[in-house]
Amino acid sequence: MHNNVLILDFGSQYTQLIARRVRELNIYSEIKPYNNPPKDLSIYQAVILSGSPFSVRAEDAPQPDLSQIKGKKPLLGICYGAQYLSHFNGGNVAPSATREYGRANLSYVKEEEQFLSGISEGSQVWMSHSDTIKELPENAVRLASTHDVENAAYRIEGEDTYGIQFHPEVYHTKDGKKLLENFLVNIAGLKQDWTPDAFVETTVAELKEKIGDERVILGLSGGVDSSVAAMLLHKAIGKHLHCIFVNNGLLRKNEFESVLDQYKHMGLNVKGVDASARFLEALKGESDPETKRKIIGRVFIEVFDDEAHKVENAKWLAQGTIYPDRIESVSASGGPSATIKSHHNVGGLPDYMKLKIVEPLHLLFKDEVRRVGRNLEMDPAILGRHPFPGPGLGIRILGDITAEKVSILQEVDAIFIDGLKKWGLYDKVWQAGAMLLPVNSVGVMGDERTYEKCVALRAVESTDGMTADWVNLPYEFLQKTSNDIINKVKGVNRVVYDISSKPPATIEWE
Ligand code: XMP
Repeated sequence: MHNNVLILDFGSQYTQLIARRVRELNIYSEIKPYNNPPKDLSIYQAVILSGSPFSVRAEDAPQPDLSQIKGKKPLLGICYGAQYLSHFNGGNVAPSATREYGRANLSYVKEEEQFLSGISEGSQVWMSHSDTIKELPENAVRLASTHDVENAAYRIEGEDTYGIQFHPEVYHTKDGKKLLENFLVNIAGLKQDWTPDAFVETTVAELKEKIGDERVILGLSGGVDSSVAAMLLHKAIGKHLHCIFVNNGLLRKNEFESVLDQYKHMGLNVKGVDASARFLEALKGESDPETKRKIIGRVFIEVFDDEAHKVENAKWLAQGTIYPDRIESVSASGGPSATIKSHHNVGGLPDYMKLKIVEPLHLLFKDEVRRVGRNLEMDPAILGRHPFPGPGLGIRILGDITAEKVSILQEVDAIFIDGLKKWGLYDKVWQAGAMLLPVNSVGVMGDERTYEKCVALRAVESTDGMTADWVNLPYEFLQKTSNDIINKVKGVNRVVYDISSKPPATIEWE
């Protein structure tokens, strides 16, 4: 069993980053909401309290019972966490004279402290708080200050309890990772054994044990998560894994054939099912985005279900669900109402299938999935692919969908994406694609007036798709791409580039 760090979440926007930083140190960590903490604390070797949008002085502020943690396990409070540990142990937290957001530098550092080893005066830290710890508890020792924050870091005498006002988890805190390492490795004594090698080894062993001789079915999408999940299962159970890759007719140009080929080269037992006609027929005349999504989801389940029934003795359904899909999130506005975001890559199968669910990636963040994929020596082209929505081009053709529109958009998209790759821009962009607009506009080609379709190109940078900004692609690239599209794709006479951020726009147009 690997080491485990418990991160108690009080609703900070940075909580996931704490887990990411801890895991970058090759130490496993789990996020749990403060109002639904784990019953069994014996599996955790250290605990971190996150920041929070609440003030400790507010009546409805989170006040978890830490009696089984404080003084018993190494404990680090960050921002709200530090204020909480102070306020309820004889200290005094009050509103700051000025709100403190952004950059600050440590002006005093007790360098001989193990907690601050390797961190010196002047080190940049990132603040985001409107309360401040005016007085520390009696048994606390001040470890660091900034110009505006006297008690920027402290320790409780006789315990492995620490508090810091700034955020070590954000990159702007230059020595943040060092500080977490000091706490977790030097003070708490955790082993740095959460590596892709170890993950692959233990996961494969667990899958073998859990699944035994039974058969598993998995829906491949061409994306990173389902592909890595498939490779892990393949390593564990070989041909007992039956993969199904459905062509819904809304994939990118040549994608079905090329991805299927890649999967076969990886040794996967995969069946390609071309159901394009079935999807197009079901979508005929439908132009409402949500209805289109529902139809695509329903037909997918029907097709997948038909195929799954052909696999004799299938007892398991594998999914590429990853950790962020499962974290119980603390609502910043709604007090203790923890909600679980659930995500099903296959959109929820009919109950009568009665399959057991296996999710080999459920502990991993996206970049960890990629690391595991590299460890499994998977093709970098698969691991680095942009996200692509399940309904595919179906939600990038605004309005109703026809085979002709799909074919036009596939050509446009291929010119754009191939161009990004040729110009070395593909890996700098988080997601890119083209939209076919329900707009005809006047143009002139040769001596003739045209009245043809308009396409929009979209390229965004993002980390999780929740917020995104448009990418400043070079004008020369846009110029060449637009020319290529208008010259090569019959039916298109106008190209526009989408310069909207999310929010208020979304990434997809539908
Ligand atoms: P939006 O358009 O909401 O997209 O800003 C955020 C991310 O989600 C993807 N997306 C979808 N993925 N089914 C999916 O599997 C969908 O219906 C869907 N809609 C949007 C989108 O491509 C982006 O990565």
